[in-house]
Amino acid sequence: IKRVTTNTLKELKTKKEKIVCLTAYDFSMATLVDAAGIEVILVGDSASNVMAGHETTLPITLDQMIYHAQGVIRAVKRALVVVDLPFGSYQGNSEEALRSAIKIMKESGAHAVKMEGGKEIEESIARVLSAGIPVMGHLGLTPQSIYKFGTYTVRAKEDEEAQQLRDNVKLLQDLGCFAVVLEKIPAKLATEVSETLEIPTIGIGAGNGCDGQILVIHDMLGINKDFSPRFLRRYADLATVMNTAFTNYITDVKSGDFPSKKESY
Ligand code: KIV
Ligand code: NA
Repeated sequence: IKRVTTNTLKELKTKKEKIVCLTAYDFSMATLVDAAGIEVILVGDSASNVMAGHETTLPITLDQMIYHAQGVIRAVKRALVVVDLPFGSYQGNSEEALRSAIKIMKESGAHAVKMEGGKEIEESIARVLSAGIPVMGHLGLTPQSIYKFGTYTVRAKEDEEAQQLRDNVKLLQDLGCFAVVLEKIPAKLATEVSETLEIPTIGIGAGNGCDGQILVIHDMLGINKDFSPRFLRRYADLATVMNTAFTNYITDVKSGDFPSKKESY
């Protein structure tokens, strides 16, 4: 199988073929995602929420991200695997950013890293890129800054923040990022930015004009039913499927039906 690379993504944008991305945090899920033909697997720090049960992405550590990434990498034969640099591992200190990115690449075998922010982390991005590590940007709603924003509502609705985002996407492209995630911004702005940029934009809650889309796997599979933002489309109702399996199992064990003779040695 031909591996997806950062160049593949640029080719897809040139061909106007949409880029399909999903998160994954473990071997079993990543096996299925990769086999289906998803182009980019993000080991997102959303693992902090959906795997560890934290309220925000802030608590997850670099070593925990590496543990998730190792399982994903063992599974993947084709997809490009991008790993989030977690909160506190790259902001404000470009040397620490480089050290964190190198640790992820060395210990997990990932293909690229993602960092949230623009101008304010310019030095960190440049330094990681200078080591030959591909960087995916992330602008708009950047969940590691949730306590600055105060809410998870749509970003860049006002002119000033929209202009800031335009400046930042251009900066990320000029620095050498291979793609940029646009999270929860108006579709009109995301479309404009996608048309202006040479590098692909990957949207989540950013409308149909982006060059690709990403969703959190637990959300799109309907595993966690509490989370229902407008941008989320559920492609399965796994919570119901799993609940049925669990309750049937309970019934069978309680009744003595499981295991049967055929299921015993
Ligand atoms: O951590 C994550 O899952 C992400 C995507 C939603 C872009 O950053
Ligand atoms: Na993330």
